[in-house]
Amino acid sequence: MTDPAPRFRDKPVSFVRRSGRMSDAQERAWQDLAPHYVIDVERDAAATSVRPGTSIDPATVFGRRAPLVVEIGSGQGHAIVHAATAAPERDFLAVEVFRAGLARTMLDADRDGVANLRLVEANAPEVLEHLLPAGSVDELWIFFPDPWHKAKHNKRRLVAPAFPPLAARALRDGGVLRLATDWEDYALQMRDVMAAAADFAPAFDGDWAPRFDGRVMTAFERKGLQKGREICDLVYRREPRG
Ligand SMILES: C[S@@+](CC[C@H](N)C(=O)[O-])C[C@H]1O[C@@H](n2cnc3c(N)ncnc32)[C@H](O)[C@@H]1O
Repeated sequence: MTDPAPRFRDKPVSFVRRSGRMSDAQERAWQDLAPHYVIDVERDAAATSVRPGTSIDPATVFGRRAPLVVEIGSGQGHAIVHAATAAPERDFLAVEVFRAGLARTMLDADRDGVANLRLVEANAPEVLEHLLPAGSVDELWIFFPDPWHKAKHNKRRLVAPAFPPLAARALRDGGVLRLATDWEDYALQMRDVMAAAADFAPAFDGDWAPRFDGRVMTAFERKGLQKGREICDLVYRREPRG
């Protein structure tokens, strides 16, 4: 029997997978720590996809029922490892496609003895659409998503009109969506997209939300500040389901 023709995604994704090699420490972290921290995902067309119809049960994954915080694009994991350490009564899920970043996250979590953190190596929209049960998430965070500066690449941006329905599906009623970026054009797009999303209401007054004090300074934020950019935070509450 011949192999079926390779299948590809039909939508653009918000990342280009970096091919950079992992350091020896990161390779070791992957081998030793991934079996504990990284959730197994059944794949569809691509290596970072999630097969429709497959989902996790957070209570089984974490061995308890606790409020769940999901960070999309967790990078090196600085924000989520810090948050998981500071709030042992909540569970945290890091969603990232950058393997070396996930390895760094596990090394830091292991060093700090963090028990309430798990990682998913997958494309975030598919995680929101398939892997997470509807209404299972208390807070969803996206801090400094890739801005896709050039107009011709804007279609790759994560926080675009297709995003709110996916976030609304995963969040529980009253759940919170937190966004931050240092790229003004993307901040304005985020605010417009969320203003048009019937399932969400802003949870801030004025133009922008105050800086979320649970967000630690990452390299991306520091770089933006050094370049004189303003950091824009936004926060929304998921409206109750009808
Ligand atoms: C600019 S970095 C910011 C990382 C981190 N939030 C911080 O503030 O340091 C954006 C990250 O989002 C990840 N990313 C982008 N699109 C993604 C997607 N669709 N699913 C999962 N991760 C994604 C990238 O791999 C990258 O590590």
